[in-house]
Amino acid sequence: MERIPDKLPAHIAVIMDGNGRWATARNLPRTAGHRAGADAVRIIVGECAKIGIGYLTLYAFSSENWARPRAEISALFGLLVEFLGKETPRLVEQNIKLNVIGDIAALPAPSRLALGHAMTRTASGSRMVLNLALNYGGRDEILRAARALVRDGLKPDQITGQSLAERLYTAGQPDPDLLIRTSGEKRLSNFLLWQCAYSELYFTRVLWPDFDAQRLHKALQAYAARKRRFGGTEEAIIPEA
Ligand code: IPE
Ligand code: IPE
Ligand code: MG
Repeated sequence: MERIPDKLPAHIAVIMDGNGRWATARNLPRTAGHRAGADAVRIIVGECAKIGIGYLTLYAFSSENWARPRAEISALFGLLVEFLGKETPRLVEQNIKLNVIGDIAALPAPSRLALGHAMTRTASGSRMVLNLALNYGGRDEILRAARALVRDGLKPDQITGQSLAERLYTAGQPDPDLLIRTSGEKRLSNFLLWQCAYSELYFTRVLWPDFDAQRLHKALQAYAARKRRFGGTEEAIIPEA
């Protein structure tokens, strides 16, 4: 049993990277890495809900991932449908609410259908919000919010951090306290650009399919040891969302 630190993030965001390299290292096709990655998702979702994380945001497909081979993209969305079919009853059981962030209009129809179904079935989940980032791009999200501000007729002085944040996909949610990226890459790759302004960043060389509960707890220990100052001189309490 892991010791759970007192200081837990309310919101964890994860850039789940390294599936391809995990597979290549085993002489397997990249899609086998994505399948193993889906197992890691199941484990991390369950663990986060268990220890009391309120929000978990997983980067599953970026707006730039369309640059991948067609076959890999199809396999990824096929896996998504399979995952939702298998995992939705477990999400309901664990009282987890599924939410999608990103432009899902562009997703293949079976994925949209499966997501709609899973979101409806988990709508009353109150233990944890699971945001799946699909066809998500941080710049796209900010642009959409800017257009919405204009469409809603806001005057220049009504355009505030709050009125803009209310038009992001994550409206009403606290910003991530902790951002984890696996596989050794140290970049944001267009993830949650607005929301991660003051997130603690945790990079690990572990490839996503190998990221398990123990590795999560290691990241949580590292987070608990951080001093968040938000521009001040003393460790600060997290500002209200
Ligand atoms: C992350 O693993 C999963 C997605 C981006 C969908 P990658 O597929 O990027 O794996 P690497 O980075 O090639 O190892
Ligand atoms: C970021 O990983 C996107 C997801 C994890 C879904 P990528 O593998 O696409 O990022 P880059 O291209 O290496 O920056
Ligand atoms: Mg990658």
